[in-house]
Amino acid sequence: MKSNGKKPRRAAKIRVRGKQNPQVTLIHGDGVGPEVIEAAVSVIGATGVDIDWDRQSAGGNAMRRYGTPMPNALMESLARTRVALKGPLETQVGVGYRSINVHLRKAFDLYANLRPTFSFAGVQTPFRDVDLTVVRENTEDLYSGIEHEVAPGVVESVKVITARASTRIAKFAFDYARKMKRKSLTAIHKANIMKLSDGLFLKCARTVAKHYPEIKYNEQIVDAACMRLVTDPQSFDVLLLENLYGDIVSDLCAGLVGGLGLVPGANYGDKGAIFEAVHGTAPDIAGKNVANPIAAILSGSMLLDYLDHEHEGDRIRSAVGTVLRSGKTLTRDLGGRASTTEITDAIVRALART
Ligand code: NAI
Repeated sequence: MKSNGKKPRRAAKIRVRGKQNPQVTLIHGDGVGPEVIEAAVSVIGATGVDIDWDRQSAGGNAMRRYGTPMPNALMESLARTRVALKGPLETQVGVGYRSINVHLRKAFDLYANLRPTFSFAGVQTPFRDVDLTVVRENTEDLYSGIEHEVAPGVVESVKVITARASTRIAKFAFDYARKMKRKSLTAIHKANIMKLSDGLFLKCARTVAKHYPEIKYNEQIVDAACMRLVTDPQSFDVLLLENLYGDIVSDLCAGLVGGLGLVPGANYGDKGAIFEAVHGTAPDIAGKNVANPIAAILSGSMLLDYLDHEHEGDRIRSAVGTVLRSGKTLTRDLGGRASTTEITDAIVRALART
C-alpha cells in the first residue's frame, strides 16, 4: 500500500486491547514534551472525543519536582488507566538514573513498539512513496540493563533474547501485517555474528512465518538493510527487529520521510498501551515553540484508534495531511517558519472541515 498523496494512510489502525476507557494518563515529559503533548491534546479535543486526562509527571521534570523520575502516583495512574499519551523523557548519557521509558515498557509488559513511517505529500525529501512499519521488540536484548564491570577497564553488557519474547513479537508483527494487508515482512538481524541470540530470534520468526503464507517473509543482515533503506526504501514493507536494531533503524526511517517531528509510535502490550512520538526531548529547541507537534498528534490518532474512535483518528490523519500538503504552515524542521502553536491551530482548523 503506498501513500495516496491526500492524507497519511490509517497507518496504525491496530487495537490490541479492544475496549473503551475514557480515562487516559497524560505525561508531558521533558524538553519539547509539554509543547507537543499539549498540541496533541488540543487536536484530540477538537475531534469531540471527550477524554478524562489524568496528568502525571515523569522523568527529569518529576525528578526536579518530587525527587524521583517515577513517582508512585504515575505508576498508580498507569496501573489504573492502562493507557497513556506520553511526551519524551530525558535520560542522561552514561550516568544518572536508568531510562524511565525502558522501565515503563517492562513494568507494563508493553512488548511491541510500532512505528509506522510513510511519505507525506508536501514534505520535501529525496524519497517518495515510502510506506513501511517498524515493529520493534521492546522488553529485552541489550536493554535488559544487565551491565557489570568484570575487572578495571573491562565491562560487560548482557544481550538477552528469549524464544518467548521473540515468538510473541513475531506474531504481533505478522498479525499487524495481515490486518493491514501488507505484502511482506523482513526480519532484520546480525545472526552471522550473534549466532545464538539473533539466531534464536530468526528461528522464532521463521516458525511464526509459516502460519502466514500470504505474507512474503524475508531476512536481511542489519548493515545491508540500512544501506538498502537509504537506496531503495520502497522495497520494504513491515520490518521486524530486536530492541536495539529497532531503536536505531526507526530513527533512520524517520529521516527518510522528513524527520523525527513526523513519525508517531505506540507501545502495545496485552493489557495496555502507551502512545508516544519516536523523537526525544529535543533539548536544543525546547521551550521555543518551534518543535514539530505532528509526531505527537499522530501518536494521538493512534490512541484514538485504540480507544475505538477510529473515525476521529482518521479525521486527524486527514487534517495533518491537508496542512502538510498545502505547505503554507510548516515548522522549521520542514523548511517553514511556523511555530508549534501555529501548525497546531492550522490542523485544528483543517479538522473542522473534515
Ligand atoms: P531527539 O530526538 O531529542 O533530537 C534529535 C534531533 O531531532 C534534534 O536536533 C532535535 O531538535 C530534532 N527533533 C526531535 N524532535 C523534534 C520535533 N518534534 N520537531 C523538530 N525537531 C525535532 O534525540 P536526542 O537529542 O538524541 O535525545 C535527547 C533526549 O531525549 C535524551 O535524553 C534521550 O534519552 C531522550 N529520548 C527520549 C525518548 C523517549 O522518551 N521516548 C526517545 C529518544 C530520546
